[in-house]
Amino acid sequence: MRYSKILGVGSYVPPQVWTNEDLTKILETSDEWIQQRTGIKQRHWVDLESTTSSSDLAVVAAEKALANAGVKKEEIDMIVFATLSPDHEFPGTACFFQDKFGVPGIPALDVRQQCTGFLYGMSIADQFIKTGMYKKVLLVGAEVHSKGLDRTTKGRDVAVLFGDGAGAIVMGAVDELIHEKTSRVYSTHLHADGRFAKELWVADPGNANGPDRLSLGRINEGAHYPKMNGKTVFVHAVKRMPEVLMEGLAANYLSLSDVDLFVFHQANLRINEMIASQLQIPNEKIFNTIDRFGNTTAATIPLGLDEAVKCGKLKPGMLVASAAFGSGFTWASAIFRW
Ligand code: ACO
Repeated sequence: MRYSKILGVGSYVPPQVWTNEDLTKILETSDEWIQQRTGIKQRHWVDLESTTSSSDLAVVAAEKALANAGVKKEEIDMIVFATLSPDHEFPGTACFFQDKFGVPGIPALDVRQQCTGFLYGMSIADQFIKTGMYKKVLLVGAEVHSKGLDRTTKGRDVAVLFGDGAGAIVMGAVDELIHEKTSRVYSTHLHADGRFAKELWVADPGNANGPDRLSLGRINEGAHYPKMNGKTVFVHAVKRMPEVLMEGLAANYLSLSDVDLFVFHQANLRINEMIASQLQIPNEKIFNTIDRFGNTTAATIPLGLDEAVKCGKLKPGMLVASAAFGSGFTWASAIFRW
């Protein structure tokens, strides 16, 4: 039986830091409000006057992931690109990334599953590798949220949460399990429930709006900015993430105590704390980065993996469990050995 494994990881955040205090200069909020409810202290945003987009951040993260994996660009068989903040309406950001990265000809696929996008992408890469169709897949999660946020007091409930950043992994094939701790992806589990699609969404531009995909009137209403029912998102996230995590572990006859490190999506520190307390996971086994980066959506998990490697928390042979929840609603888990 063939498996897939993670060969290398890389990440990148733009240099400019916006602390909570910085945000108080552009909208009505406070460091105390943000920290108490979300655990976020700062986030990185691109230069707001620049043309920097998700594909630009992804190029840097992907270069690092390839170097870390010891893999050359020519060896990559496929690009999977997860983002909710695309460079343009179409074509997919994977194509813009492919051009900048300089790997023409190979398939380039966009995944639009928001906060769960990286785990959906991991599942796609895993299936292509397991079937023998491809040997090496580059999976990227990248977001430039800053430019798409309503950075005024009207949009403050959402604007304070999100950061810009990118993370990438190179996935390759494992043909033989030499021992129990051979690095590999054990399984991925994916879910969605579109009944909640409008609980966290951006309405415009959209054909479902009527004759005008984007009108000046609706721009003035702010319909092109993300809208969120924060409480509903919270309630579903703390239910679905533990559920899908346990589903993944059970499918592999594993228990929570087998896991060495939990690298969860970073939507809100309170969500992850509630999951930890529900499942009685010790704090030191959960790797959170939200205090420094905010919610970077499709990038939170690869960014977390890279940071965990850099600070020595994640070492070869460790069993990792990831779970994510986000807009759609979508939720997913992945169990893998580093
Ligand atoms: N600064 C100061 N005050 C604010 C801000 C802000 N940035 N945003 C909202 N407020 C005010 C509101 O206007 C409201 O004021 P009012 O009581 O006078 O009307 C008050 O704070 C409370 O607002 P609530 O929305 O009730 O705040 P809540 O306690 O629900 O916290 C939060 C909001 C943090 C968004 C919470 O609902 C949450 O964490 N939800 C989870 C959603 C999430 O994490 N989404 C991330 C993206 S999705 C994902 O990645 C899964």
